[in-house]
Amino acid sequence: MTNPKYDGLFKPFTFSNGIQLDNRIILAPMTNYSSNEDGTVSDSEVNYYIRRSKGVSMVITACTYVSANGKGFPGEFAGHTDEMVPSLKRLATSIKEQGAKAVLQIFHGGRMCPPDVVPNGDVVSASAVPVEQDGSPTPRELTDSEIESIIHDFGETTRRAIEAGFDGVEIHGANGYLIQQFFSPHSNRREDRWGGSLEKRLTFPLAVVDEVKKVVDTHAKEPFLVGYRFSPEEPETPGITMKDTLALVDALTNKNLDYLHVSVLDFWSKPRRGVEDTRSRIEIIQERVGDRVPVIGVGSIYTAVDALKAFETGIPLLAIGRELIIDPDWVQKIKEGRENEIITKLNRDDQEKLVIPDPLWQAIIHTPGWFPIED
Ligand SMILES: Cc1cc2nc3c(=O)[nH]c(=O)nc-3n(C[C@H](O)[C@H](O)[C@H](O)COP(=O)(O)O)c2cc1C
Repeated sequence: MTNPKYDGLFKPFTFSNGIQLDNRIILAPMTNYSSNEDGTVSDSEVNYYIRRSKGVSMVITACTYVSANGKGFPGEFAGHTDEMVPSLKRLATSIKEQGAKAVLQIFHGGRMCPPDVVPNGDVVSASAVPVEQDGSPTPRELTDSEIESIIHDFGETTRRAIEAGFDGVEIHGANGYLIQQFFSPHSNRREDRWGGSLEKRLTFPLAVVDEVKKVVDTHAKEPFLVGYRFSPEEPETPGITMKDTLALVDALTNKNLDYLHVSVLDFWSKPRRGVEDTRSRIEIIQERVGDRVPVIGVGSIYTAVDALKAFETGIPLLAIGRELIIDPDWVQKIKEGRENEIITKLNRDDQEKLVIPDPLWQAIIHTPGWFPIED
């Protein structure tokens, strides 16, 4: 039986469009590098999702690319052509059969794409400004019509998500990828309608939202979620500040989205600059949004107590990433009053038991400091 102090985690949640979640815990979107060469989802990746879709109320998938030149990782599954609908359907069905809602994260990598995974090595972005890291390619600045075409691609992938039976899409405007590149004064140095002022830097992100919403209005026969994920700050100068982010949040709350999803590594991380406030970024964002749209929090929630403390901020929903890789039964253990049995460190012998595809496993164990690993 659930320890009553955790009952709040298991309170159902209803989105304004009527879609109901059984509890407040969501699988965070996590790339697994394990799809087939042809862009279809692989058996090992589907099994990884099945293993993690029973306790959570909603699964946000790894990002899928909406345009050929938006592929951001080797082994990323594709969402950019109609041929991919059966593959997307297989993924949606596998998740939904376990009882969770399935949301497809849609994405374009922009200047973060490795040249060897995009056609002709043609890496594109808002402006010809590379990522501040040695060896990063200088992207080619997109033309006006290419930008329009990528916006259209976000809509097309949304249509495929509807056809494939997903319950929603999450627009990936976070983690430094193309949508964020248009919002960022670091990567967007344009002086046309897509850049120049904060308002103009919002043009692309908001156009993507409008296109996705339009496609949902036209094609979805049942309620379909549209969420938006963003990163609150960038370390670079110039770069997105907390003040910019609050402007983005205001603009997004006017768009009738189903949820906003913050991307941070630590739920309690504090602003670097842009506001005089000692509270965490998520608390500041939650206060700004109020009850206008639900916010999903995230970041280094490993134990039931961590989750409880996070919910005390008033956040309605929590996404859990690494911890659900380490312990796929995390939610069930809390539900059954076995929260003290939760495993919070990866054991190097457990790859098979945890159903982790090999490329993801290799990335995890060879990236020091990324995951807590037992000595
Ligand atoms: C292996 C891995 C892959 C990730 N891939 C994505 C992704 O495709 N899209 C995304 O928005 N965030 C991605 N993230 C970030 C997570 O969604 C999450 O925000 C981050 O891991 C912090 O949450 P956690 O501490 O619960 O893991 C990834 C994180 C990990 C660990």
